[in-house]
Formats: sequence, structure tokens, C-alpha cells
Amino acid sequence: MPNALKLGFGPFAAPGRGALVVFCDNNLKFGPATRKALGEVAGVVARAAKSERFIGKKSSTLDLVVPTGLKATRLVVIGVGKVAELTPKDFIRLGGVAIGRLPNSAADASIFAELPGGAMRADQAADLAQGVRLRAYAFDRYKTKRKEDEKPPAVRNVTIAVGDVAAVRKADAPRIATSDGVVLARDLVNEPANVLYPEEFARRVGLLKKLRVAVEVLDVGAMKKLGMNALLGVGQGSKRESRVVVMRWNGGRAGEAPAAFIGKGVCFDTGGISIKPASNMEDMKGDMAGAACVVGLMYTLAARKARVNAVGLIGLVENMPDGNAQRPGDIVKSMSGQTIEIINTDAEGRLVLADVIWYAAQRFKPKFMVDLATLTGAIIVALGQEYAGMFSNNDQLAERLTKAGNETGELVWRMPLAPEYDKMIDSKFADMKNTGGSRWGGAITAAQFIKRFVDDKIPWAHLDIAGTGFDSRQTDINKSWGSGWGVRLLDRLVADHYEK
Ligand code: BES
Ligand code: MN
Ligand code: ZN
Repeated sequence: MPNALKLGFGPFAAPGRGALVVFCDNNLKFGPATRKALGEVAGVVARAAKSERFIGKKSSTLDLVVPTGLKATRLVVIGVGKVAELTPKDFIRLGGVAIGRLPNSAADASIFAELPGGAMRADQAADLAQGVRLRAYAFDRYKTKRKEDEKPPAVRNVTIAVGDVAAVRKADAPRIATSDGVVLARDLVNEPANVLYPEEFARRVGLLKKLRVAVEVLDVGAMKKLGMNALLGVGQGSKRESRVVVMRWNGGRAGEAPAAFIGKGVCFDTGGISIKPASNMEDMKGDMAGAACVVGLMYTLAARKARVNAVGLIGLVENMPDGNAQRPGDIVKSMSGQTIEIINTDAEGRLVLADVIWYAAQRFKPKFMVDLATLTGAIIVALGQEYAGMFSNNDQLAERLTKAGNETGELVWRMPLAPEYDKMIDSKFADMKNTGGSRWGGAITAAQFIKRFVDDKIPWAHLDIAGTGFDSRQTDINKSWGSGWGVRLLDRLVADHYEK
């Protein structure tokens, strides 16, 4: 179990001793069941709101500790702002805010899923529950000690009070699959590289077989036979052997071409011989966030039995400096036959993707391809941590991703591709070089490099998630470092594309 949250649904009833969470709008109005539960305390809430200048803004909160007249040890009032403007991602966020306001001591809580006009709809209440699950996640398996006042309860029982319990449970089932997929991706990203190296990563993906995902692992011998020398060159300086893992989920029409999802899985990126500076290098345990997302997504699709044929392919390597490591100036022949001059061994992700994307296209002839990679520091310079960079050869796919991003809050911003940038990676000695030579447009030249391994007849999008895949900032639905970014985005893309 990722955490000790026990989440259930029940009818609106008189709240017990635990914490009570309720919602109000920007006129401080409550729904009827909430008003009944609050009883006399409503007056105190009004006074407290006034003194705290709480006006019910979206995601703002008002806390009352041991409120007289209520059994609850704490009352949390959460503003939703204007009800008419609420979107699904707002309900997810509100769930996160709700669980975030509970003190460590609270072992029991009840959340009233009600708006001024009455019970939240089933999908809204289920979104709220998803936010609760995402926020409750913690990666604490390596913590052996805790200060007395920081100890969380062994189990936290959260009951969400709803109008139609059966309808909410039904809406909740696919969302559980999604949040479990996000949690799986986060676990992989948070895990340190001494524990999670390519072979161990591949072993963990094997656990998806339980959900009837077909999982195949290509070892170094198999990759050599296929000619994946771009990928193998990256891993050759590591004691840990490289792997490619292929996942297949066939929930769609028999014989229909699959959607393909490809992830960069650099389990640790030292930079290799072009070694990185020491500061923040520890973050490079997360350089497999693209692969983690693909695994989390495949888990989700299988767990909710999505009506889609999908394949997930991840390239797993460790980029280390060593007597056998790849050198700047080396030339490798990729599986596609194109040769690459290595200018900088720290531009390794694109080398991994070059072979895996080529292999995915050859073998599966996919309907479309999306790759995810923590590829460049330059995309963080351009977009910060709010948007992932999106590069695409197909307007329709780009639009679909933009839409799914706006719906889920996992935002993408389209960046340009153009022949002028492509020229920057021409090489004196080989078909291309692995960097643009200058730092200018670094995320774009990286995308141009990948594009050289994509058949333009296949719609393709590349998501540079260097800024979004892991994050030391805290959000309302994630307090851990690994974000699991992209699982909800691509789950939605599939749902919009195939299941409408
Ligand atoms: N994994 C890094 C990119 C990265 C940086 C991801 C920071 C997340 C946070 C990637 O392999 C890399 O080192 N890119 C280089 C490319 C350069 C050598 C052309 C970079 O961005 O500096
Ligand atoms: Mn690198
Ligand atoms: Zn990297």
C-alpha cells in the first residue's frame, strides 16, 4: 500500500468525532445537509469568517478547532468560489486541499461533498476523492524515525458524504485506476538510483502482467542484435546493464493499430564523461520520469480496462563516466542506420529515444506516438515548471494534447520545429550530432534530433517534461517530489480519443 488512507463513501449523516470538512461558495452559502450538520455552529462560522476575512474564494480555507456545539475536533470550511465556474480539475484540487487541512492527529475525517445547491454530482464527488488520494500520497519508506508531533495516524479513515453512494462508487472506479497509476509513477520517480536501476525497473514493470499487460524485456544481447547502438552507447559506462521494456495492452478492436507511448528511462544521469556539476545532481535519479509515466499510464489503462490498443516502450539505462564510457567525438550507428556524432555525453536522452522510437514505429506501426522525456534544462528556462514543452508533426494530435492538458491541469505548450533548427544538428563527420552546439534553442534542437527518427506519416508528439516530471515545490495534489506528471494527461487523451 502506498499510504494508509482508507477512503469510503456514505450518505450525509450527523458527523462524528473526527474532523469535518465542508464547502461554501463565495457568498458563504452552504448546502442543506451541511447546514443541518453545522446547526448552531453556523453562527460561529460566520463570525470567524468575518474576523479572518474569509470570503469563500476557491481553495481558501477557514479552520475552527474544537468548535463548541459540534462533536468534531476540527471544522474545516473550504471555499469553492463561484459554483458555476467549477471544472473537474477544481474538484480534484479541492479534494487535495481538504486532506491537506487535516492535522496529523486526525485519524478520522468526514468530507461533505455538497455545494450550496445540494449534493455534488457523482463525477464531481469522485473527482474530489481522486484529489484526496493524490494528496495523501507520501514517499516515506526510508524514514525510520519521526518526531512525536509529526507522527501520522497508522490509518486515516476518510468518509466522503455524498448524495447517491452507488453512483459515486461507479464514477470512482476508473478514477482509482488513474490515481493508482499516478502513485506508481511517483514511486518510480522518487526511488533512489541505487535501488532502481534498469534491471530492477524492468522487474517492477513485470508486475503489470497481473493486469494482463503483456510485458517483454529486451536485454543487451537482444538490443545488439537489433542494432540499438545509440541506446547501448549511453549505458556502456555503467555496471548496470541497459534494458528496453515493451508493454502491450489490447483493450480495443482486434487488429487495430495501437497508440504508442515511449519514455526516457535514464535511471541516473551523471552526464557521463561530459560530467555534470555536483549541485543538484541528486535530482538526476528522476531522469526516468518519462518511463515512469508510461508505466503508470499502461497500469491505468489496464486497471480500468480502457477500450484501446496501446503499447508502452521504455529505454532504461544509466549514464555513468567510466573507463568504458562513451567519449565525446565517438560516432555510433543507430538502429535506423543513421550515424550520430556524440558531442556531449550529457545529451543522452535523445540517443535512448532515437532507438526506442524507431523500434516502436517499425514493430507496431502505431496510429500515433507520444514520447515523454526529462530531456533538456532549456525547456525549464523557457517554460518553468508549469507547462511541459510539446513538439509535434501533427496539428490534430497537438490540439488533442492541449485539450487534455487543460482538462486535467497537466498543461502543455506547443513549441516550434523548423528546418533552420534542424540544420543546427548537422555534423561534419556523421549524419548528425547529438547537440546543437550552442545553448540557444536547446529544447528545440533536442526535439529536432528526435524528429529525425520519426516517420512523418505517423502523427507524433514529443513532451519535454524536465520541468514537470519532478518538483520540489508543493502543490495541492502532490506533496512528494516525483509528480507522476503525464499519467492523467495521457489517460484523458486516450479517453477523449477512443472512448467517447
Ligand atoms: N536529464 C537532463 C535534462 C534535465 C536537466 C532534466 C534538469 C531535468 C532537470 C539531460 O540529459 C541533459 O543533461 N540535457 C542537457 C543537454 C545539453 C548537454 C545539450 C542540458 O539540458 O543541459
Ligand atoms: Mn544528460
Ligand atoms: Zn538526462
